[in-house]
Amino acid sequence: MLFWRVKPLEKILATAEKKALTRQLGAFQLTMLGIGAVIGTGIFVLTAEAGQKAGPGLMIAFVIAAIVCALAALAYAELAAMVPVAGSAYTYTYGVLGELLAWIVGWALVLEYAVAAGAVAVGWSGYMNGLLDSAGYGLPMAMKAGPQAGGVFNLLACGIALLITGLLVLGTSKSAWVNAVLVTLKIIALITFIAIAVPASQDSNFQPFLPTGWGSPMGGVGVLGAAASIFFAYVGFDAVSTAAEETRNPNRNIPIGLIGSLVICTIFYMLVGYGAVGSMGAQPLFDATGAALAPGSKEFAAACALPQHAQALVCSHEPLAHVLRVLGWSKVGNAIGIVAALALPTVILMMIYGQTRIFFTMSRDGLLPARLSKVHPRFHTPHIITMITGVFVALFGAMFPVGMLADISNSGTLFAFIMVALGVLILRVKQPNRPRPFRTPFAWPICILAIAGCLLLFVNLSGYTIALFFIWAAIGLVVYYLYGYRRSHMIPGNEPAEDGEGMPPEPVFHEGPQA
Ligand code: ALA
Repeated sequence: MLFWRVKPLEKILATAEKKALTRQLGAFQLTMLGIGAVIGTGIFVLTAEAGQKAGPGLMIAFVIAAIVCALAALAYAELAAMVPVAGSAYTYTYGVLGELLAWIVGWALVLEYAVAAGAVAVGWSGYMNGLLDSAGYGLPMAMKAGPQAGGVFNLLACGIALLITGLLVLGTSKSAWVNAVLVTLKIIALITFIAIAVPASQDSNFQPFLPTGWGSPMGGVGVLGAAASIFFAYVGFDAVSTAAEETRNPNRNIPIGLIGSLVICTIFYMLVGYGAVGSMGAQPLFDATGAALAPGSKEFAAACALPQHAQALVCSHEPLAHVLRVLGWSKVGNAIGIVAALALPTVILMMIYGQTRIFFTMSRDGLLPARLSKVHPRFHTPHIITMITGVFVALFGAMFPVGMLADISNSGTLFAFIMVALGVLILRVKQPNRPRPFRTPFAWPICILAIAGCLLLFVNLSGYTIALFFIWAAIGLVVYYLYGYRRSHMIPGNEPAEDGEGMPPEPVFHEGPQA
């Protein structure tokens, strides 16, 4: 029952866009692509969250999350190169484990993409509010954050999500040139931060090093709890795997691009973490019983409002800019804020775009109504699904704290990675001779470790996040039973009349100049 309606890979490849992309990307471009997609809210904002969970131990959390990502990335790349079509983990699962699990993965990817877009929107608002405050045009607190974080409605997070949605409806340009500029700016910002903060480090700020210990399952604190949250900082490297088709010599260049961008980001993240902790300290805030307060909770917001915590790193919504301001480098702090404000919207754009592609693929398979993926006659974009997604992203951003959204997003991503690693192993057994442009090295140990690592991070999310994940999955099952189960194109008679007919066309996104 679980593994039914497996869609043959031949069929998946046949219904996918038949585009022959030139193999032009080398290891360097892939690495840039990875870094561009990865550096975002995680390092710019969630460093504070990780501090509240693990104190100075957040540096170890960065390494643990990176290792799990590297393992998952190697598995991901094999399927991405083998089945280079839209829909990523959802499509791979359809071809290996069948419709039911594919649906659950697709449903979980809503968390990965739409909820993550909300998280990045909130992260962006933290920096924009900081900039507005320092320019003397600060918004009232009620409009700076959602209810749990001490406000009422996060106006800027809502606004940026709607703005990006508008751009996507009109048809956006993905320009390699803009990506290169933003990657350079982000790297300069991080190097500047490191150059100022690391020399200002003091040994005393690293004590105690593990104030909350290693963490425990469903605890959401300690080093593992922080790793489960900071995992968000690495999400996006799948951009490298999905470029497999456009890569020269993928067997060599994909692993270099994946591991290269992860290693570079990890080194930056470690140094940024070291600088932030060393120069300011990152001790968590505790309640009266000695338990670390949950970041994003009302109690935590109240503790941060106390005058003695006004400057605490863990309370900041724009930790990197904040550290520099406290160290006396206000102008540089503001400049970092400006870079974050410029760069984070592209991460939101990639996430909402990714979400529309997943929904689009699911509706092409008959699991969601075809109406949803109707393409706009003039803009040639799937405007309906984009607008629905955008409204939800805007609401998530307006109402919820960044850390909570990032954790929920991670739960979906970790689940999808587990299924992908499982899929690699199953296909190695079931279809050993299928051509694999990229083969995961040491597939068995790597995939098993990837699954174990993702599970370890998953169980170290807070109990609340895990519960939400399962509630979301249960809702998904009901939706599947009511709709996709009956309408699936896998049911004889339900297929579109002819190949292409009855199927919505692919959305057209105008490509910018390629690097
Ligand atoms: N890794 C991306 C970020 O941190 C999602 O914003």
